[in-house]
Amino acid sequence: MFAKDFSHLYSDECNRRNQDKLSALFAYAQRKDVTFLGNGLPESKYFPWQSVSGTCPTPPFANGIDSCDKSTDTFSFQTMKNDNSNSKLGTCGDSSFNLARGLQYQAIEGQPAVLDFIREHLKIIHKVGTHYQDWDAILSIGNCQAFDAIIRTFCNVGDFILAEEYSFSATVNAAKAQGIKPVSLKMDDHGIIPEYLIELLDNWPADLKKPKLLYTIPTGQNPLSYSLSTERKKIIYEVLQKHDILIVEDEPYYFLQTGEYVSKNERKEVKFNNHQEFVDSLATSFLSLDNDGRVLRMESYSKVLAPGIRLGFIAGSSAILKKISAYHLMSIMAPSGFSQTFLNELLNSWKQTGYLDWLIGLRHEYTLKRDGALDCLLELIPKELIENDVVRVSPPAAGMFFTVELNAKKHSKFNGDKNAVEDYINEKFIEEGVIVAPGSWFAVGNPEEIKDIISSEDDGYIFYRMTFAASELPIIQEGIAKIANVIKFEFK
Ligand SMILES: Cc1ncc(COP(=O)(O)O)c(C=O)c1O
Repeated sequence: MFAKDFSHLYSDECNRRNQDKLSALFAYAQRKDVTFLGNGLPESKYFPWQSVSGTCPTPPFANGIDSCDKSTDTFSFQTMKNDNSNSKLGTCGDSSFNLARGLQYQAIEGQPAVLDFIREHLKIIHKVGTHYQDWDAILSIGNCQAFDAIIRTFCNVGDFILAEEYSFSATVNAAKAQGIKPVSLKMDDHGIIPEYLIELLDNWPADLKKPKLLYTIPTGQNPLSYSLSTERKKIIYEVLQKHDILIVEDEPYYFLQTGEYVSKNERKEVKFNNHQEFVDSLATSFLSLDNDGRVLRMESYSKVLAPGIRLGFIAGSSAILKKISAYHLMSIMAPSGFSQTFLNELLNSWKQTGYLDWLIGLRHEYTLKRDGALDCLLELIPKELIENDVVRVSPPAAGMFFTVELNAKKHSKFNGDKNAVEDYINEKFIEEGVIVAPGSWFAVGNPEEIKDIISSEDDGYIFYRMTFAASELPIIQEGIAKIANVIKFEFK
């Protein structure tokens, strides 16, 4: 089976992107049988870095990944500019590449050694290749950049896309700034409500073009921290298939699947006896359900390694990825060679099993933080405020965030005016010395054209997004105590 052809959905910009004849010459740069006078590749002898080196912890991180700063169980690497290469432009070995190659122009999709690791990883986690065979992965500079490249490849000014009604503001704003019109999808405690999506698309006005793609954050959704179930994903996939709409899954939190929150006295530590048990515990992705090549999966190393590495990847149909690479060629060219060198040394030393050990360790850390934050929150918010529909807390099962929902109608001032209550309570949080993100900052809104298609009830709740990622648990608990103080005072 091969991926379907989605070329009818490409943007005008994508269709205007000319095949770059010059970059095609890169393929000859390493060949010994030709004299290469093609591209302006500077000789690596003029690169001032003779080597780079680093020290990293060694799997299986038996004492937990939080102790890796103090760990003596480490390995060191040194990547030389020139190893035994006889090419001044650098060579690319099976599992590593030298700096002369890493810092050179060429691999627009990413260095082969890094991509090979990612492809293998995708087979292990998402069983790619089982539904359609012409899949691939290319590197990105993280999910924000990946999304920018994807929407430029598919959307024209005035095109619609679908998004969760509250979503990550940077990506949604990038779309809006390009003149693209995001349409909100209603959510409940389990993410996008499929029936809402069905009704919206079945009633889509005949004189408007259908949305090009769904932008979703399926795991540990930002800001609401919900995770979409497999059942919902299957329904959503089928609905979008019917309406010829692509799916872009933005998954920076995929490996922060902390599992259902269990109250303190019933809690048991989750242990994985082997890597397969961990892999089996992970959510079924849209990518792994995809028979058509309509899913583009964006993953990032920001939350699993470090945001500053600015590396991620896009996985999906290779025909689509070629179009995205064509945009990369005329914009970012390729992610930084230094970043790729460091990622390559780390991952190819850890190997797939070591990387899974790291991810298991990370899951453990975030579970402790999630549990510590939620225990504290549920202890400090008076039970009667929850029972009387004043406060709602939905413990997350993935991601870095949790929310506190407040019923604006139950506040003594502002007559249930949600914006006024949200601003007022936020000011009180700040006065108390705690910084959170008000929910309305993440509201996607709806374009004028579709405002009348579906009406939905407003339950009068506002919410604030908080994270347990940014500090040590005692600090987070200090912040939660301040939140609880304000809520108790304001809704007494
Ligand atoms: C949903 C979502 N997408 C993308 C990003 C940014 O990812 P990256 O650092 O890979 O650009 C974030 C977080 O900051 C996020 O929450």
